[in-house]
Amino acid sequence: MNSDNKRILSGMRATSPKLHLGNYEGALRNWVDLQNKGYEMFCMVADWHSLTTMSENSGEIGHNSIEITKDYIAAGLNPEKSAIFIQSHVKEHAELHLLFSMMTPLGWLERTPTYKEKKAEIEGAEREPYGLLGYPVLQTSDILLYRPYGVPVGRDQAPHLEIGNDIGQRFNRLYKTEIFPTYKYLIPEDETRAKLPGLDMRKMSKSYDNGINLSDTAEETAKKIKTAYTTPTKIKMDDPGIPEGCAVCQYLKVYSPDWQTQWEEDRQGLRGCSKNKNECIEAVNEYFRPMRERRAQLADGDVLEILNKGAERAREVACATMVEVRVAMGLLA
Ligand code: TYM
Repeated sequence: MNSDNKRILSGMRATSPKLHLGNYEGALRNWVDLQNKGYEMFCMVADWHSLTTMSENSGEIGHNSIEITKDYIAAGLNPEKSAIFIQSHVKEHAELHLLFSMMTPLGWLERTPTYKEKKAEIEGAEREPYGLLGYPVLQTSDILLYRPYGVPVGRDQAPHLEIGNDIGQRFNRLYKTEIFPTYKYLIPEDETRAKLPGLDMRKMSKSYDNGINLSDTAEETAKKIKTAYTTPTKIKMDDPGIPEGCAVCQYLKVYSPDWQTQWEEDRQGLRGCSKNKNECIEAVNEYFRPMRERRAQLADGDVLEILNKGAERAREVACATMVEVRVAMGLLA
């Protein structure tokens, strides 16, 4: 497809130095595909967003940001084609966040499912940071500064993307402008990829510690897959399996070219879980081997240079949007 310079923006938090396969399937894999189709990519590390849960132990965020950038590049993002940058290096994200925060109804934010979940985890208003409620407002600023055609993310981000378009349209209405066109949600069509299960069949997530990481070694991957959740009623080798509910079969579906045969044999009790696991280990390691090799070649210094260049490119676009925003609002630009 010739995309005619269509722009894409997306990002990941820097809460860990390692991206997991859920991050890859839900988002990063699509970023690389879109880049290779000729879209103009803005790929961000959302270090400020990490602070909503890490303000008391923020010391690792810088290091995490470098490591995540390595995962981006190892997965196939090409810094010559795509702007890879750190959110906090482009201060316009903070300015637009502040302006949007003045015109976003509190009710929209209080109703966000991710806010309700996180709030329930934190005990008491004394411990709940102000920034948590505003999380989707900052995310909206990240997106709308670039006025993208689409935002590629996993299923869990859909509520945030909805608020983002609502805020953009509200801004347009209030200030009688068309600065912010609506953007598309680019969520993988395959639900397994849009919400990749973890080793325990809950959603793969840093906070559940149930993930396989892009940068894990082949041995670490094997060890993890050997402990993965399988059909609980499949005890003997010839008991029938239920591949839809088995983490190993889910990964086979994503990474093994022979998954349909493997699933059918599992369903009919023609194969045992250990065979599934061995073939799954092989398929996952085979798929990620080139990325892991590429990652090992990346030095911190080179990554920092890439991030500086990426921020320069991002700033050009972000500054131009901010001039229009200030003018539309009647502020002195
Ligand atoms: P974060 O850091 O939680 O996740 C990064 C991306 O990975 C996707 N993802 C998954 N996809 C499929 N299966 C899973 N198990 C899985 N786990 C995570 C997420 O959907 C996401 O696409 N708020 C964002 C970061 C952000 C952002 C933005 C995204 C900040 N500003 C602007 C897009 C545009 C977040 O917390 O993602």
